[in-house]
Amino acid sequence: MTFLFNSDAKRGAIFAEAFARELPDIPFAMDPATVDPDAVRYLITWTVPDNLARYRNLEILFSIGAGVDQFRIDAVPPHVQVVRMVEDGIVRMMQEYVTLAVLALHRNLPAYLEQQRGENWRAIAPVQAADRRVGVLGLGVLGTAVLDRLKPFGFPLSGWSRSPHEIDGVRCLSGRNGLDTFLGSTEILICLLPLTDDTRGFLNAQLFARLPAGAALVHVGRGPQLDHEALIEALDNGHLSGAVIDVTNPEPLLAGHPFWTHPKVLLTPHIASVTQPETAARAVIENIKRQRSGLDPIGLVDRRRGY
Ligand code: GLV
Repeated sequence: MTFLFNSDAKRGAIFAEAFARELPDIPFAMDPATVDPDAVRYLITWTVPDNLARYRNLEILFSIGAGVDQFRIDAVPPHVQVVRMVEDGIVRMMQEYVTLAVLALHRNLPAYLEQQRGENWRAIAPVQAADRRVGVLGLGVLGTAVLDRLKPFGFPLSGWSRSPHEIDGVRCLSGRNGLDTFLGSTEILICLLPLTDDTRGFLNAQLFARLPAGAALVHVGRGPQLDHEALIEALDNGHLSGAVIDVTNPEPLLAGHPFWTHPKVLLTPHIASVTQPETAARAVIENIKRQRSGLDPIGLVDRRRGY
């Protein structure tokens, strides 16, 4: 029985050490050329290797990242469990980034950066947190953690997801019917949806039109969820006031794209949240222990939903 690690060697060394300590009976391999394919029970990777079928005894395919949209899940044999990365490091980094983004938009940072470049000393009338409604699209592990971190600031918080949720101190809405109500009362919109056929192009002109005038966007989901042109149009016609964008389509963003220089856009290169090897190794080890005692791994993907 072997655990095959298919990612960078630096992270691999940290995983190897944790495995030697916690699961010494499972050989840990980083070079597929040196392993007997029949021995591989667990594989961690970012994309699914073309030769996946050679691992006939594979039991769990782990994503090294939070998403599994980069896997072609249909190509993974049905008996293999597919598992997203749910680990403290990713959660903490996403909480930090979204807090940074929400506060930047709440406190008019894009406008002040523009004023600074123009040597313009001018105060913009402040809005109090209690009067700034913040909403999160997607109430999974990350969406819920982000809402939790935003609570102490005093923003009125809401969340939307496909299926109903209940979160203390958060107005939760769901389904198509709940979406209109959610959008109509969201002034800073945070997208933390998984990428699926249903969410591709979700952040489009119609959606922006349903937000109140002056609303802003934080996009930390996946690039293909956002219609770039629709966002630029909504920013330029003044309906939206700003955007913090961490994911684009394609990545890297093309040279000359308006996001690079738009005064209402803060752009980062898909760094909001990155798997942290120490905590990730712990999470994967915990999941193997769960599987061995007959429990479902945390982050198990529902193939019908696609996340
Ligand atoms: C990053 O986007 C990840 O999926 O971990």
